[in-house]
Amino acid sequence: MNSIILGTGRYLPSNVVTNHDLAQRMDTNHEWIVERTGIHERRFAIPGVDTTASMGTEAAKRALDAAGLSPHDVDLILFATLSPDYYFPGPGVQLQHNLGCRTIGAIDIRNQCSGFVYALSIADQYLRNGAANHVLVVGSELHSGGLDMSTRGRNVSVIFGDGAGAVVLGRTDEPGRGLLSTHLHSQGEHAEELALLGPSTRDWIPEIIQRNDPEDVSYFPRMNGNFVFKHAVVRFAEVIEEALTSNQLSTSDLRLLIPHQANLRIAQFIQQKLGLREDQVYNNIMRYGNTTAASIPIALSEAFDEGRIQKGDLLMMAAFGSGFTWGSALMRW
Ligand code: COA
Repeated sequence: MNSIILGTGRYLPSNVVTNHDLAQRMDTNHEWIVERTGIHERRFAIPGVDTTASMGTEAAKRALDAAGLSPHDVDLILFATLSPDYYFPGPGVQLQHNLGCRTIGAIDIRNQCSGFVYALSIADQYLRNGAANHVLVVGSELHSGGLDMSTRGRNVSVIFGDGAGAVVLGRTDEPGRGLLSTHLHSQGEHAEELALLGPSTRDWIPEIIQRNDPEDVSYFPRMNGNFVFKHAVVRFAEVIEEALTSNQLSTSDLRLLIPHQANLRIAQFIQQKLGLREDQVYNNIMRYGNTTAASIPIALSEAFDEGRIQKGDLLMMAAFGSGFTWGSALMRW
């Protein structure tokens, strides 16, 4: 019995923010952003309307509808995000409440851009060992309120967008179908190359306030862009090859690769490195920017709705991000 995706859903805030809009707020321009990242526009949450939990809830409802299941059928929630509504509790419990699920377990996953792949891997264990029949996996992110929208933060803030994606997993007894394997990795020595350092238990809010240092912007995400790029292209390729090799498959068997939508240039680099055709790689970063843990389930849901994945197709999902963490999930749809 393999785990299988029974339904997908996504929610994107209606507020479209173009590169030209960003150029009104900081010293940047459409051409620079497109050339370096491929991004044309992204969605920003509407304050008072969209939260990480509310977007995740909407995506989850759509995934449940697509699967023909009700919230009462869900046995476990896995919620991946780096931008929860509260410092604690995590948004898994909000999802349980918003959907009206039974008092099932709700696990919060903190693996940033790799969060969805990490969550799939955990869901797979629960489904295979029979501890759950249906697992809801959600990735949702609200970055926009926490980005440095001045010129100082432009290398980070032009990249990220808000949104949510969700899948419902169950089991299949059809031989060869479903999740074939997942592969997870981490390398914490690079934790601070892409991170949000404060406030934290190493630097509490009262201490930050007491310092009153206008130069201290540790509450904005920081990213060593070049360093991240160089590691991403190596790790993406490695973990994709790891999944193919362990299943005795090759890139020519792949119908679709859905890479975490980090940067279009990274996706193009991997495509070239692995010798994949354009139609074998799904990209939507042009429209949504990098939505970290939400990017793969959003892309998966869109690709499925567009008919890009059909029954029997081999699908690779791969991610790399802050941590560093990276991983892949190979699935026969
Ligand atoms: N608009 C205009 N100019 C910008 C800018 C922006 N938004 N952001 C940075 N610049 C400027 C820099 O200030 C620098 O100017 P200088 O040469 O006068 O000092 C110049 O552009 C080059 O900056 P650099 O940071 O070296 O650019 P880059 O080629 O490395 O591209 C990234 C920056 C962020 C696009 C690129 O490093 C990248 O995509 N990295 C991976 C990021 C990623 O995928 N993160 C998510 C991982 S999950």
